[in-house]
Amino acid sequence: MVVLGIESSCDETGVALYSTAAGGKLLAHALHSQVSMHADYGGVVPELASRDHVRRLVPLLRQVLADSGCTLAQLDAVAYTQGPGLAGALLVGAAFAEALATALGLPTVPVHHLEGHLLSPLLSSRPPSFPFVALLVSGGHSQLMHVTGVGLYELMGETLDDAAGEAFDKTAKLLGLGYPGGAALAALADSGLPGRVKLPRPMLKSGDLDFSFSGLKTAVVTRVRELTAISDEQRADIACGFQEAIVEVLVSKALRAVKVSGLQQLVVAGGVGANRELRRQLDAQAARARIAVFYPELEFCTDNGAMIALAGALRLQAGVSGKPAGAFAVRPRWPLTGS
Ligand code: KG4
Ligand code: ZN
Repeated sequence: MVVLGIESSCDETGVALYSTAAGGKLLAHALHSQVSMHADYGGVVPELASRDHVRRLVPLLRQVLADSGCTLAQLDAVAYTQGPGLAGALLVGAAFAEALATALGLPTVPVHHLEGHLLSPLLSSRPPSFPFVALLVSGGHSQLMHVTGVGLYELMGETLDDAAGEAFDKTAKLLGLGYPGGAALAALADSGLPGRVKLPRPMLKSGDLDFSFSGLKTAVVTRVRELTAISDEQRADIACGFQEAIVEVLVSKALRAVKVSGLQQLVVAGGVGANRELRRQLDAQAARARIAVFYPELEFCTDNGAMIALAGALRLQAGVSGKPAGAFAVRPRWPLTGS
């Protein structure tokens, strides 16, 4: 079975082909990031995002067909991100997928964006097996999930306000870095001195598995305001202090979630999962607790079509039937559990 995956929930257009033959294989994937287009505005402009998805989808589809050597006639289903995300951006991908599937007489598989992130480590050369605990840390979400199998997700904890990636982005903006600033902030933090700027560890000792990051951002605002002029060294130290605080909370809660679940595997997914310091701390502390940690390949940490093709294929393999192509709706707000 060959599944085409379409991702268009935010500012990345992703298209991929996944085959379930011989244990499963990603045949090809292509991505267009709109980051440089939105950078001038300091954030994603939804209307521009939608229009750019319209422009990119056909060339990206042509590219994955050429790269994989597949033809449209070889496709068995079309999976696409149904939500959550920007309504207009989702509509472009959904309309494209449904129209293509209608023309080809194929079923569609509407996929939850976070399910794509959650399953993305299965694309790596060392994939985890079910069950596992997943730490989902993206620009829009921060959640801990108990994953028993494809489609079997139980929420263990989540952020009460800002998502981890959102906190990275807002702090980066405050320090004069561009959008999205997560990776730039992490790079700046590398040149800072650990321990010099002490920031709060929100909800570290709350006893539950929830997060809160808006107070941390406010603490950075206060720190920056206290300074009349900010030197490069001070900016780097603040970035370093911010990263230390957020990483400590994420690592502590993620390991606690694994302990509570009684499992021994942790999967980290979503854009913040690309953070090197998070990976370093998690690897070190998990090894001591005899917990195996799994990450997606770096290119599949942030939004991409491969994870959507994979999620669609795994759903079909798990016995979920595809839907007849045609009528559709997108779900800009959509909880992964209880839907
Ligand atoms: O998963 P993703 O591509 O999009 C959403 O579904 O939200 O995640 C994007 C988020 C952004 O907030 C970005 O700043 C953050 O991931 N990010 C990072 C790093 N790379 C991307 N945050 C911290 N360190 C990084 N290296
Ligand atoms: Zn995402």
